[in-house]
Amino acid sequence: MPEPSWSSVDRYIIDTFHLSDPVLEETLRSSAAAGLPSIQVSPPQGKFLHLLVRLLGAKRVLEIGTLGGYSATWMARALPPGGKLITLELEPRHAEVARKNLERAGVGKVVDVRVGRAVETLPTLGPEGPFDLVFIDADKEGYPDYFDWAVRLARPGSALVFDNIIREGAVLDPAHPDPRVRAVRLLNERMSSDPRVSATEVQTVGGKKWDGFALAVVQRPGP
Ligand code: SAH
Ligand code: DHB
Ligand code: MG
Repeated sequence: MPEPSWSSVDRYIIDTFHLSDPVLEETLRSSAAAGLPSIQVSPPQGKFLHLLVRLLGAKRVLEIGTLGGYSATWMARALPPGGKLITLELEPRHAEVARKNLERAGVGKVVDVRVGRAVETLPTLGPEGPFDLVFIDADKEGYPDYFDWAVRLARPGSALVFDNIIREGAVLDPAHPDPRVRAVRLLNERMSSDPRVSATEVQTVGGKKWDGFALAVVQRPGP
């Protein structure tokens, strides 16, 4: 038997757990047709986010980095009646594609795509929180700032998830020339020593190669 590749194992998981459907496929197809980069989460990761929303009983979810709305669709499908997902996107074109995809997926009413730089939108979101789950998947240079905003917009017991915190192991190099890698290292330093959260990171392989995600849970106030 040939040695299985990470992608073929992902394919097996997708098939076995039925992690694709015509609506999600159409979201990927229309995003690619519009020229969006194919950097959305994988189907198993999308289902993982979906299950996190359910585990948390999340009613208010915040996403930073919409792209074509693929991860947003997975999360929105897990919301209870009255639930709401706000997703922040820099590129108007991405937002436009996402809105069409979300509408087609039947979650257009529960997902609100806000266009602009996340650092400018985040300070406006206080009245719409607190958020039960924040999924951070936009520009990596912004991760340290997004961490701080996410904690402030959350409540005790909320979860923060960051995508792409391993990047093929690049994170090991403290002098890495790529500012995105240095930003993720700064995020890790802050997140690991911040008494407001308890956090860990999990490495992953699959269709998205070798990468990983961070999970932080906001602490309940001490005595
Ligand atoms: N979460 C999506 C993938 C997001 S890709 C999914 O899994 O389906 C990252 C997105 O972040 C891109 O669409 C990019 O345009 C957006 N982005 C980059 N910089 C940003 C910023 N400063 N503010 C908001 N969005 C940004
Ligand atoms: C890139 C960004 C992502 O969020 C991702 O999941 C994969 C790749 C990128 O910018 O290359
Ligand atoms: Mg990502």
